[in-house]
Amino acid sequence: MKFFIDTANLAQIQEAYDLGILDGVTTNPSLMAKEGIKGQNAILKHYVDICNLVGEGDVSAEVLSVDYQNIIKEGEALADLHSNIVVKVPMIKDGLKAIKYFANKGIRTNCTLIFSAGQALLAAKAGASYVSPFLGRIDDIGWDGMKLIEEIKNIYLNYDFDTEILAASIRNPIHILKCAEIGADVVTSPLASITALLNHPLTDKGLAQFIADAKKME
Ligand code: G3P
Repeated sequence: MKFFIDTANLAQIQEAYDLGILDGVTTNPSLMAKEGIKGQNAILKHYVDICNLVGEGDVSAEVLSVDYQNIIKEGEALADLHSNIVVKVPMIKDGLKAIKYFANKGIRTNCTLIFSAGQALLAAKAGASYVSPFLGRIDDIGWDGMKLIEEIKNIYLNYDFDTEILAASIRNPIHILKCAEIGADVVTSPLASITALLNHPLTDKGLAQFIADAKKME
């Protein structure tokens, strides 16, 4: 399973990269705005900065337009920025058409705002490289986000789609583990949920004992 970090914060991306487990980055307009980025030039520069931090990893850069012509124009400009860029496109009718266009041109896409298996099926048919089901937001309204990941996994296996399941809107380390059990191709997560996987009280207790015993041998 690939680990992406879901942030536009350069320091957090660097920290995740330094851990040695980072396979890519996802952003969205909310995450970019949170970093105080304003204006087209600053947005494009920030994506290049992110790409330069993550080596070979994919970087999802989301279009802001919602009509076909402008999604195409914006997506092509984003794809031209760096070979790591994956154009993130919302699951709307014009977005679906744009995903097909991008697939024919060899531009990789991440179809975002996926909340149903039907949407994931359409995105795969159109040739999306990734689909992003938002499992945390589904849990937030009392539905079962993990069930959606399972449904998409089964559908994609039935038809051998190449589209990768990129589980998004991760809220905690259990989400990451459950996605790994189901076989999601990627999780994109805040740094805190990734680093939480490191912790176990018995590891801390065991290490304290080893350190104490090591002192006896000095
Ligand atoms: O980037 C898309 C997704 O991960 C958003 O997560 O926490 O805003 O629901 P969240």
